[in-house]
Amino acid sequence: MTGFFITVEGGDGAGKTTHLTFIYEWLRGRGMNVVRTREPGGTDVGESIRELLLHAVGKMFDDTELLLMFAARMQNIEQLIKPAIAKGDCVLCDRFTDASYAYQGGGRGINMDRIAELEQWVQGDLQPDLTIILDVPIETGMKRTQKRGEVSDRFERESMTFKKAVRQSYLDRAACFPKRIQLIDASGSIESVESNIEAVLSSFCECWLSGKAT
Ligand code: TYD
Repeated sequence: MTGFFITVEGGDGAGKTTHLTFIYEWLRGRGMNVVRTREPGGTDVGESIRELLLHAVGKMFDDTELLLMFAARMQNIEQLIKPAIAKGDCVLCDRFTDASYAYQGGGRGINMDRIAELEQWVQGDLQPDLTIILDVPIETGMKRTQKRGEVSDRFERESMTFKKAVRQSYLDRAACFPKRIQLIDASGSIESVESNIEAVLSSFCECWLSGKAT
C-alpha cells in the first residue's frame, strides 16, 4: 500500500501554520498516520540549509538560493518523504516545489525551465497528490504579519513587487494544474477557510480511496 503526499502553500499572513495544524488533525482524526515536514527544512541537514536561506548575512545570488532550496528538498525527499509514502503514511509538507516556481521563478525572475530541470533531477516522477494554495491579497497578509510582530526573514523583507509576483505565480500554477492544485481564498475567518479546506480534503480522500478500490 502506498500513502499520499499533500503540500500546502501560501504567501505571508495566509494563515498557513494554523491551517496546516487543522489539516494534520483532520487527517489523523480519520485514522491516517501523518508525517509532517516543511521546506526548506524537515531534516537535520535541511534545517541547517533553511537557516542559511532565511537568515544569511550578505548577498546571496539568486541561483545559489534556488540550488539550496533544491538541496534541502533532495534531503527531505530521500530521507523522509519517499520512505513515508512507501510505508503507506500520509506526508503533509509545509511548502514544496510550487514555492520555488513562485519565489525563485516569479519573485527572483529565474527562468522557469531552469527550475523544471532541477525539479526533474531531484524529484523524478514524485509529485504531490494534492496541493492547497492559501491565497490572500498582499495587503491583508502584510497586516496580519505586522500584527504578530515576528522577526522577519529574507523573504518577508522583500518588496511589494516581489510579493505580487510570487502571488501571481501561485495563481498561474493553480490555473496550470487544476487537478492537483486547489486554490482557497484565505482572506475570510479561520472557520470559513477551514470549512473550505475540509471540503477539499473530504473529496480528495474519497477519490483516493475509490482509486485504491479499483
Ligand atoms: P515558511 O516557513 O513557509 O515561511 P512563512 O511561514 O513565514 O511563509 O518558508 C520560508 C520561506 O522560504 C518563505 O518565505 C518562502 C521561501 N521559500 C522559497 O523561496 N522557495 C522554496 O522553494 C521554498 C520551499 C520556500
